[in-house]
Amino acid sequence: MKWWQNAVVYQIYPRSFQDSNGDGIGDIQGIISRLDYLQELGIDAVWLSPVYASPNDDNGYDISNYQAIHPDYGTMADMDELIEKARDRNIRIVMDLVVNHTSDEHQWFIEAKKGKDSPYRDYYIWRDPVAGGVPNNLTSAFSGSAWTLDENSGQYYLHLFSSKQPDLNWENEQVRREVYDMMNFWLDKGIGGFRMDVIDLIGKVPDKEITADGPKLHDYIQEMHQETLKGRDVMTVGETWSATPETARLYSHPDREELSMIFQFEHILLEEEPDKSKWDIKDLDLVEWKKVLTKWQVELTADGWNSLFWNNHDTPRVVSRWGNDTTYRKESAKLFAILLHHMRGTPYIFQGEEIGMTNRVIQSVDEVDDIESRNMYYERLEKGYSEEELLHLINVRGRDNARTPIQWDDSKHAGFTEETPWLPVQPNHVEVNVKQALEDKESVFYTYQKLIRLRKENPILVRGDFKLLLPAHPTVFAYERQFEGERWLVCGNISSEPQEISLSESGEADVMIVSNYSRAAVDLKAIQLKPYEAFSIKLK
Ligand code: GLC
Ligand code: CA
Repeated sequence: MKWWQNAVVYQIYPRSFQDSNGDGIGDIQGIISRLDYLQELGIDAVWLSPVYASPNDDNGYDISNYQAIHPDYGTMADMDELIEKARDRNIRIVMDLVVNHTSDEHQWFIEAKKGKDSPYRDYYIWRDPVAGGVPNNLTSAFSGSAWTLDENSGQYYLHLFSSKQPDLNWENEQVRREVYDMMNFWLDKGIGGFRMDVIDLIGKVPDKEITADGPKLHDYIQEMHQETLKGRDVMTVGETWSATPETARLYSHPDREELSMIFQFEHILLEEEPDKSKWDIKDLDLVEWKKVLTKWQVELTADGWNSLFWNNHDTPRVVSRWGNDTTYRKESAKLFAILLHHMRGTPYIFQGEEIGMTNRVIQSVDEVDDIESRNMYYERLEKGYSEEELLHLINVRGRDNARTPIQWDDSKHAGFTEETPWLPVQPNHVEVNVKQALEDKESVFYTYQKLIRLRKENPILVRGDFKLLLPAHPTVFAYERQFEGERWLVCGNISSEPQEISLSESGEADVMIVSNYSRAAVDLKAIQLKPYEAFSIKLK
């Protein structure tokens, strides 16, 4: 067993976590000041979204110097202090590794742009125009072509994200060397590992319009492992939107020496029309969703490892998206916690999820910070979509939903900052906040705390088999875990309507473990479930 197999990871989006110096922007000292809180929650590691030097075209996912801290966040000394103070509390810091691309303000790109003879030219991907225009049809995830013309040389460079995020050329051995050296710089500081941004794209073959899962992808990751990770007790998690259980085994089979685990997005992608964009949304089919989650649970066992998450800094908040953020906010926040933390894999909590923070509602594009949403808005406005439709899409799927400041208390700026925050705090901070949650023994926070502790004490959660029950039920997600003769039943009603289910085959109910309504006994032959009710019990 590796430490990260019964660990729970907490994602910090530093810009929105805690401001310590009144500039309205979260920072490293702010994180340090909240380590006691994280320790009380019980998490083992923090995945820290980028804190590196960056012009912030994509909020830090456009890095201009991998070995420098953005002054907004502090200094390298602050970073060293964070690593050390977290370690004192048995919390490891997992850094975000963004090496599919750099910022266009990175020294390598500045040099590369000087001309075709620049020694750095080949660090990036350049192509001549075709028929006086872009080299091919590759598009950017942030709208428009993935190619931008460099007037100076007459060539186009590739960027699968914004034009300020030029893609690195992984075919170039020197590029790979630089990345490995940089990784070792961080690993030598004693960090807990890396979350690897869009890592499935690094093997791209632009001329064939292949982006994800290119032919050399796994060679690169194996080489990276040998050059950096080997022999170190760290965890790695790759962000891989293209992953299937088959490719997940390639990444995470221990014998292959690649990564600890990956983030797969199949359950998230069920909300999109197939082969369209994240903005072509459809209603979630819960039966399909249960099927997808089950597939990952049963297909990735001894030969790989799962990560578990409902939301992150790129997605809406789970309580607003799949739960109910009004009448049943607390109930549904706890339900999703219970359902996730009883599955096999390493759970990830996105900051604020542990108090049931909700999506942000906007009325105008002027309120939008995120580049992805803004670009989509203007592109589609031109194509004739209505303003109303587009604002709806942003409210449903936009990335700012997750990025509002953490609500620490009910004061003016929610205890996040003394001054104007970079993104406004949500009006509901007066009732949804950490201070209130810590004072209320029935809060969402304490459900998370309990679930985290359970994983440490019960090998069944980490190693037990998973079996889906009632696969065709339209709203109830019920499953059983089994390990060395022990059996746990987990059950949740993802709906605001009560439900009755019958699990007569599953044996007799015994000890209640976690629940989100007070519930004394369970008759397995006729379980009455209230709106968003969820619980787990040990079976006889
Ligand atoms: C990943 C990040 C996202 C970023 C993109 C480009 O998907 O999670 O925030 O915009 O990569 O780096
Ligand atoms: Ca600050």
